[in-house]
Amino acid sequence: MKIIRQKKDLQKIINKIKTFSFVPTMGGLHKGHEILIKRAKKRNSNILVSIFVNPKQFNSRKDFKSYPRNFKKDVKILKKLKVKYLYCPNYKDIFSFKTNNKIYMHWFSKRLCGKHRPGHFKGVLDVVNRLLEIIKPKYIFLGKKDFQQLTLIKKHIKKNNIKTSIISCNTLRDKNFLPYSSRNINLNKSNKKLASIVFNTIKNEKILIKRKKMQDINFSSLKRKILKLGVKKIDYIESINLDNLKRAKKYNENFNIFSAFFINNVRLIDNF
Ligand code: PAF
Repeated sequence: MKIIRQKKDLQKIINKIKTFSFVPTMGGLHKGHEILIKRAKKRNSNILVSIFVNPKQFNSRKDFKSYPRNFKKDVKILKKLKVKYLYCPNYKDIFSFKTNNKIYMHWFSKRLCGKHRPGHFKGVLDVVNRLLEIIKPKYIFLGKKDFQQLTLIKKHIKKNNIKTSIISCNTLRDKNFLPYSSRNINLNKSNKKLASIVFNTIKNEKILIKRKKMQDINFSSLKRKILKLGVKKIDYIESINLDNLKRAKKYNENFNIFSAFFINNVRLIDNF
């Protein structure tokens, strides 16, 4: 595996290879990333993975500092998966050039995580746009766990006529329904147990909404239940219609329940 630290070196490889399958990450690689990489491999064997912990998408310095980093382990995982290229730039390499595209912030960026993490999606779109301008991949692979991020990147790509196709990948979960996430490393065994109880409680609520044919979906009693389980803070629990991105009110809409809450100061998000 070639480890590339500067875009001028990457450029030489890009000029030769031309079609890449690109998997952007912030490191802290886990089984969910492995699935993205395996999917990418099926499309095209020239896999380029990036590892860059983007400070612009963290709305607190403390969160940025405590974000899980384990470069050695990441490299081992990527080598095992036979990834050919790893780009791990520094801040200057990414942010010191003038971009061609303008960041497009769709109104959905103001909802859910956008409401609770000011500047987060602007930071995500800024870095992803820069990576796309540098790499110009044929495909980019992104997970549905970050549905809001995925949707906003889709909107930005469409608006700017970027030639990259997005391949969205299903969320990978452990046997207790806990989604794989880099942040899980900061959870101990009992935190993980609580997190999986919470996600299962939300899952059951969705089943109930459908079974009871609810006409006015409301999560106030679910929120109380989750706080009673021991969750210290809930940012949101909301039903979102996946077709029009608005709040889903009725059981028969095509919706997912989106949630963000804190366990042991670790912010967990999911949707299903
Ligand atoms: O999902 C992530 O890991 C990040 O938001 C991404 C897409 C790599 C941009 O920094």
